[in-house]
Parts: sequence; C-alpha cells; structure tokens
Amino acid sequence: MTDHSSYRLLLLFLLLSPCLLMAQVKGVGNVTNVNINGQQVDITTDNAHALVTVYNANVVRVRIDKQALAPDFSYAVIAQPQTTKANITQDASSISISTDSLKVQISKTPFAVTFYTKDGEVISQDEAGLTTSWVNESVTTYKKMQDGERFIGLGEKTGPLDRKGNGYTNWNTDAFGYSTGQDPIYSTIPFYIGIHHNISYGIFLDNTYQTDFNFGASNNRFSSFGARGGEMNYYLIYHKYVADIITAYTALTGRMKMPPLWSLGYQQNRYSYYPETEVFRIAQTLREKKIPADGITLDIHYMDHYKVFTWDQNRFPNPKAMTDKLKDMGFKLTVIVDPGVKIEKGYGVYERGLANDIFAKYPDGTNYSGEVWPGWCHFPDFTNPKARAWWGTEMKKYGDDGISGIWNDMNEIATWGQKIPDNVLFNYDGRMASHLQTHNVYAMQMARASFEGAQKAFNKRPFVLTRAGYAGFQRYSAIWTGDNRAEDSHMLAGVRLLNSLGVSGVAFTGMDIGGFTGNPTPSLFARWMQIGAFNPYFRNHTAVNTKSAEPWTFGEEVLEISRNYVSLRYKLLPYLYSSFYEATQSGLPLMRTLAIDYTFDKNVYDGQFDTQYLFGSAFLVAPFEGDAKFGKVYFPKGKWYDLYSGEVQNGGEQRIIQLSQRKLPVYVKQSSIIPMQSLVQSTSQKPDDILTVHIYQGDVNNSFVYYEDDGESYNYENGAFYKRAIVYDAAHKTITFGKVDGSFASKFNNIKLVMHGFANTSVKINGKQANLNDDFSVLLSPLSKFDPQGSENATEGEKVKSIIVKNDSGQITLAY
Ligand code: NOJ
Repeated sequence: MTDHSSYRLLLLFLLLSPCLLMAQVKGVGNVTNVNINGQQVDITTDNAHALVTVYNANVVRVRIDKQALAPDFSYAVIAQPQTTKANITQDASSISISTDSLKVQISKTPFAVTFYTKDGEVISQDEAGLTTSWVNESVTTYKKMQDGERFIGLGEKTGPLDRKGNGYTNWNTDAFGYSTGQDPIYSTIPFYIGIHHNISYGIFLDNTYQTDFNFGASNNRFSSFGARGGEMNYYLIYHKYVADIITAYTALTGRMKMPPLWSLGYQQNRYSYYPETEVFRIAQTLREKKIPADGITLDIHYMDHYKVFTWDQNRFPNPKAMTDKLKDMGFKLTVIVDPGVKIEKGYGVYERGLANDIFAKYPDGTNYSGEVWPGWCHFPDFTNPKARAWWGTEMKKYGDDGISGIWNDMNEIATWGQKIPDNVLFNYDGRMASHLQTHNVYAMQMARASFEGAQKAFNKRPFVLTRAGYAGFQRYSAIWTGDNRAEDSHMLAGVRLLNSLGVSGVAFTGMDIGGFTGNPTPSLFARWMQIGAFNPYFRNHTAVNTKSAEPWTFGEEVLEISRNYVSLRYKLLPYLYSSFYEATQSGLPLMRTLAIDYTFDKNVYDGQFDTQYLFGSAFLVAPFEGDAKFGKVYFPKGKWYDLYSGEVQNGGEQRIIQLSQRKLPVYVKQSSIIPMQSLVQSTSQKPDDILTVHIYQGDVNNSFVYYEDDGESYNYENGAFYKRAIVYDAAHKTITFGKVDGSFASKFNNIKLVMHGFANTSVKINGKQANLNDDFSVLLSPLSKFDPQGSENATEGEKVKSIIVKNDSGQITLAY
C-alpha cells in the first residue's frame, strides 16, 4: 500500500468512527412526546419509550425500553400503585413530578431523571452525559456518583458492607467452596441502598436477566445498574431512614409469613445422615448431651439413587414410623429436594412429569436433559403454573410421611458442566422466555412451588429453605449461603452475607455453621456455634467427606460452649419469635447491619467493624475469629450493657476487649426490652409459666411488640394470636404492658420483670407500691467447669432486681 492510500484509509476511519461508536452505544435521546395521565407520565424519546409512575408518595417507578413497553409482569413485585397525590407538569425543557415526599425532574434534552427531596436536595441523578443507553440488548442507567456516596445491600454478595468501588453481577451460580470475594454466588436481589449527605434511598432493578451493578468500579464518574436484556425497570424508594426503605422495599416485594416455631430451634445436619439408626443416634445424642434441638435434616442419601420424592428402602424402610418416633423425641425432619428429575422409565415422578408435560424444553419441543446427582435429568419448568401445581401434588407423599421441612438445593440450576443452553425455553407464566431471561428466577419459583405445595400437603406451616432465589423469594422461603468453607474468614464473610441479605428484604437467613468444606478447628467451631445462636436460621452442616462435626466431636469444652449458646437461644425464643413477627409486619430483618440504625456514622463501614450487627432490636453482636485473643469493638451512640456482666459502656467509642473462647461479645442496647423463657430442650416442650422480661435502663424511649401464637398453624391469620406492646417511657419512668390483642391464650401466667441498671428498690405496679427482689440474671449455664475462675459453680450472673406480676390481659404499668 502506498503512503497516500494508507493516509486515505486512516481519514476514512476517523470520519466513520463516531458513527461506529454511536451504533454501538445507543442513548435514550431527547423527549419528543409527553402524555400526562393521572399519576403517570408516558414519554416518547428519539430512541425509546418511557413510563414514569408514582407508586406512592415515596416510591417512583421508571420503565424504559427501545420498543413500546410490553404488558407489565413481575415475579418480584406484588404491590400495585396506590392512589397518591401527585402533581405532574411540564414545560419546554422538563417534566416535574411532586408528591408529599419527593420531587422528580425529567429533563427533555436528553431524557434524564433527577430525584430530589422536598427541600430540593439531590437524592439520585442520572449522569447527564450518559443517562440510559443500550449496547446491543444490554440496557444500563448511569447515575452521577455523589460526593462520599456509599452503597449497601444487593443481597447475597461477598465483599465489604460498603460496596463503593466494586462491581457486581447477578447470575445465580452454584459456587461450591466459593472464595470470600467471589461474585456472583447463589442468589439475585437487584436492590441496593445509596447513602450520601444525610440522605438514603433504595434502587430496585426488577429485571430477571443477568444484571450488573457498578458502584464506582474502574470509574469515578457514576454508579450504574443494567441488564443484559429486557427493559430498564427500576423503583426509586426515598425515606429518611434506612429501616423505612427496607419496609417500603418489602411492601413492594412481599414479606415472610410466620415461620413454624420449631424452625427457630437448632437444626442438626450433615451430608448425609443415613440409615435411620444413624438419624436416631444423632437425635438421641443431642438429648443426652443436652444440646437443645428441634430439627434434623436429611441430605441426598435418603433418596433411592438420588431420585427426588423417593426413599432408599434399605436405609429408610418406614419413613412415617421414623418421623413419628422423631416427633416423640421433639424433632422435626427436613428433607432435601433437587429440581432434576431422573430420566428413567417406570419412575413415577418422571412418568407423571412427562404425562403432565411440565419439563423445560428446547425450541424444537424436546425436553432439555442435563446431568446432576441422579444422572441425566429433565427439569420441571417452575415458571409454568402447571409445573408448580404438579410439584405440589408430588409433595403430598412427604406430607403423608410426616416431613415438616423442604430444603430446595441445586436450583440455580446446577448441572454438571454448569451451562444450561441459552435456547432452553421456559413458560415464564404464559409469556415464554429463554433461559437467559428465566435463569435468575427459576429457584424462586421452585421455592414457591415447594412452599405452596407443602402448605397444602403438610396442613401446617412448612419450613422451606432455598439455596438460590430472586428478589421477593422471602415470601416463600428462608435462605442459606451454600457451600462455605471451615475457615475464620468464611465465618466472618458469612456474617456480612447475612447482614446484606437482611437489608435486602430477607429476614430468615443462615449459613452452614462450622463450615461446609474442610474441618473447623475446635475454637473456630465454638465461635461459629456462638454466632449461629445469633443467626435467624441456626443449622450445623458439613460436607460428605469431612470429619464429623456435631457439637460433641470437638471435646468437652466445645460441647459445653455449644450447649450454653444453644440453650441461651432457646431461652431467647420469645424474643426471637416476636422479632420474626416484626419481620412479617415491617420486613425488618433479624440480623441488622449497624448501617440500618447508624447510617451516617462512618465507623460502621470501617472494615474493622463492618461485621458487627444488631440481632433484633436489642443485641449488639461483635463476631471475631475463633482463636483471637483481643478484638476491637465499636459502640455506636447511646449506652450499651455487657450481656454477661451488665457493665455499662458508653456509645461513640471504640474499645479493645479481651476475648475468651467461652464468650461471644454481645451487648444490650439501652432501654431494651427482652422477653425470655425457661430452658427447654425442644420447642415441643412447654416452658414454665413465667415470661421473664428484661428491661435495661436507658435515656431513650423504646417499645417492643411481644407476640405469641400456636407456632404451627395459620390460625393467627384469623386472630388466634396474643400480642401486646411493651413500652418503655424513659421520660415518665414507666414501663407499660399494653392491653392484649388477639384471641390466643399466652403460655405464660406470670411475668417476671428483671430490671438492669435501675437504682430503685421499689416500684409501683398499677399504682400500688411493690418491692423489687434481689436476683441474678444468669444468661449462660451457671455450672461451668471451664469458667475462667476454674470453679465448678462460678458465674452467678449479674446482680439485678426483679418482680413477678400476674400476666393480666389488661394494661400493666410499672412506675419506677
Ligand atoms: C449442595 C449443597 O449446597 C449442600 O449443602 C449439600 O450438602 C449438597 N449439595 C448435597 O446435597
């Protein structure tokens, strides 16, 4: 080529390249038409259609697509827009929307959205030069990175509490033995909370394709969220408090129902307990060693050659007799189910699946086959209502066998090769969609099918657990964080995962206590059991080829530590159950990262402290490695009490504390109200009839809704509950038990009030003078061979004052 011709080619390239770039990134363009219609605005732009809807005063939905918007459909969102006062106007340059809580300004050239507070402060703002655009079918919305902006949430994501500087992908993944920084892992919740300038807001991107989030990874200009297909479809939620954002998000995507009480007890598991004599040995040993427990879980070896809805007849000859006997011992049985249905002539489940035509298919109508535990399988299309109903009928067998819990595993979908072809088709509730669109929602629909099926088949509240999910799965199922490792860093990463799931609308969460892969050291196991006692779902699990990991396999001291903490959890059941009730009402999780209540305190995001969390409203838990000798704890503003000694610690301080393997650092927030019961070995055992309510002196008001019901049926939905507000009024120096609401009779005839940090010796109960008694608050076992003092019966506990009153259904007021 001559110099001349290469020069001409270069010129041509330079002239064409902007066009090429434009062809590759297609912006939304300028607004060309606006149609205001009640609470929503229909907008046409050069390249797209948009619909902005006021969902309520605090929630605005934005939909944008290259073509006309498809009829609305969501697996996640169950709330409809509420009739809301919204003032929508436009002029030549912009469209303005104003509600009682926020303002939205949509500029016309180009289409770009900014959300403001009523005072005109920016909440979230499209990056003016980038706004929303497409690269092929991928759509992304770019938001200007605000000064000092932080990001929390996004569900089950590894990494730090503050996600600034990182990018994440949602593509449900079977992540065996994942590393503590791996992304993605099992589940998808495209919801996060942004925090800046004393403002916090939530963004929920409701799109089931692979979604990608960038919180300033490899750039300092924007945060962004986008999907590999489908429409841009996001909800902006603005509230002053993070807790209210979570409540608003769970109003959109739903909340859990009351779980069965037994599922809050300790669950013993391994891959796998069999035959049934082994199951009984485990149950018997838990009782003998006085480790309170409610659940045993069967992993895949209970099945006949891993075929779902079957039993291995040699290992488990009479499942009903087994579950009956376990129930007599105070245990409920949970069994694992995998989605793959073995292709085998004569196997009833497979034959009925074929007959009902419920398997996912290739476009040519052939059922898709993939290989997993049982060999080659077809996979029920759980996005088909017919398949969900079919799965539910198969579940009847488990109901007849006396099963109480369903553990949904491998539902990403995991297959050998981990590559379901893109062209496998799913029903998507009548819409037909490829695997690309369905992948992230498959597990949620499996959990739904299990939940709906088990509700009918068990005739009681079922316990349902899932490994993967999509936003909103909390309506059907609890989740655990899959195949973690028996390592300290994993235990702490697990705490962060559960905290993150909590801000993302999932209250019922757990991790494999002790670690799935590998063998924990005794000190790691002991610490993990302590933390597990302060996790919503408390299950010990380990892999198939690891050493036994029941609490008694690590020596006497670890056994005693485990017993102490599991026992403490059982004594806390009234508090726990009431906290679950709160989750059903407000969506607030049990495990609360400190970012929920102390959002603008920079210390809570510090890597030294970002595993700390509140368990319910009262306990501050500070997790540390199993064998750490010292640890630094951050106490947010307020006043805190050491759980064990009652020692007072002022807030706003960091403190280096000495650690003991015997004690997990736990503190109680001032003004807390903590109902407890006597120790039981299982929730099927009745506690004694005194409800012990611990009150911690404080300078701030507080309230706690105490809740009880039968723990197993849905009668609570028809008023069969016992509920009363307990209000601590610090200014007026009163503690009031409000009138009882509901028709259920409490288990407790008496209430013992235990007063921590109060100087008083006498109080007035309903106006009558009464004396407080000297008492001890014994939280851990008072008999401790391994007590630091070395004495057999040390640890009397903290000195407190207490008084017993009749559990009257009318108002009870204590004035001090
Ligand atoms: C993978 C799960 O994550 C694990 O908990 C289970 O033990 C194995 N599958 C075997 O079912």
